[in-house]
Amino acid sequence: MSNLKQKPLTQSFKFLSLNLSQPQNESNTVLAEVLSRLRGIPMDFHGQTALITGASRGIGKAIAFSLAQQNIHTLLLVARDPQRLQRVATDLEQLGVEVSILPLDLTQPRNVHSSMVKALRHHPPIDLLVNCAGVAYQRQFIESHLQQVETELMTNLLGMYSITRVVARQMVRRKQGHIVNVSSLMGKVAAPSMATYSATKHAIIGFSQALRGELAPHNVKVTNLMPSLTKTDMVRDMKPFRWVRASRPEQVAKAMVTGVKRGNREILVGWQSHMAVMCDRLAPQLMTRIIRWTQPPATTPVSPYSKVVVPLQN
Ligand SMILES: NC(=O)c1ccc[n+]([C@@H]2O[C@H](COP(=O)([O-])OP(=O)(O)OC[C@H]3O[C@@H](n4cnc5c(N)ncnc54)[C@H](OP(=O)(O)O)[C@@H]3O)[C@@H](O)[C@H]2O)c1
Repeated sequence: MSNLKQKPLTQSFKFLSLNLSQPQNESNTVLAEVLSRLRGIPMDFHGQTALITGASRGIGKAIAFSLAQQNIHTLLLVARDPQRLQRVATDLEQLGVEVSILPLDLTQPRNVHSSMVKALRHHPPIDLLVNCAGVAYQRQFIESHLQQVETELMTNLLGMYSITRVVARQMVRRKQGHIVNVSSLMGKVAAPSMATYSATKHAIIGFSQALRGELAPHNVKVTNLMPSLTKTDMVRDMKPFRWVRASRPEQVAKAMVTGVKRGNREILVGWQSHMAVMCDRLAPQLMTRIIRWTQPPATTPVSPYSKVVVPLQN
């Protein structure tokens, strides 16, 4: 994060030279600190304010708790279900964090805009925005329901746009801030049976890249978090892809905190994701085969003899 507390670099060098005669482990610690500062690692989230969407469950909730452990000062939690949000808020308050909840349906962009504008008037300015809310429906595209397609596009994209527009304007005015957009490994390597979801997650990566360029002159950073399969409500009823190891939400949250501290532009979670992205770049045909081998079987066999292969539903 651009505005996280950080001692001047010169101070760290002075510290290093003063400690050269100290036992090795101490100077190693100082050396690590100086190296981390050279790589742009800020110290902590102490005293900061973060807004997290999708904070009532799963990855968003785990991110809220990770930030609480990092001594974040204030959290503003967004999701639809006020009771769940309140339960998460109560648990976070016990860790010493000031928490407000903002129940919002991200599929209603106009309402999101006006509620956000009102909410920001009554809260400390946002230092970190984590756009985590999302939905996914697993279905062959030709069998997809238009209503589910709309919900995926509205939640994963339009909802994120509406929140980001309001918060990014405030960050630009303050000349500081960090935005984390939660995409997915499927934003890099699209998966069969998840066409619309993959499309939204690819779009988030493109959106973040453009936004990063626009906001950089204003000292606002933009990071893409790309979890792979993670054990949450979202995937509970999905047919699994073979050989894919699922992460825990806490692992994703930890990767986010580390990546944001390092100022990373993109954060992949787990070795399988790194392998998949590398394979897709270096050997795309092999990756296509791997996806075919690992994908879950289609629910409806497509007949090569019929013109209308499956009835389209809304
Ligand atoms: N789980 C995975 O395998 C995986 C992998 C890669 C990326 N991701 C991404 O990680 C993010 C979090 O996913 P998750 O696995 O934690 O899912 P989850 O457990 O289903 O949680 C989704 C969160 O989004 C909120 N949400 C859903 N629709 C909303 C709406 N219309 N308005 C406001 N909030 C809404 C939900 O709260 P309410 O229901 O209360 O609104 C909930 O807090 C998503 O962007 C997802 O695409 C997940």
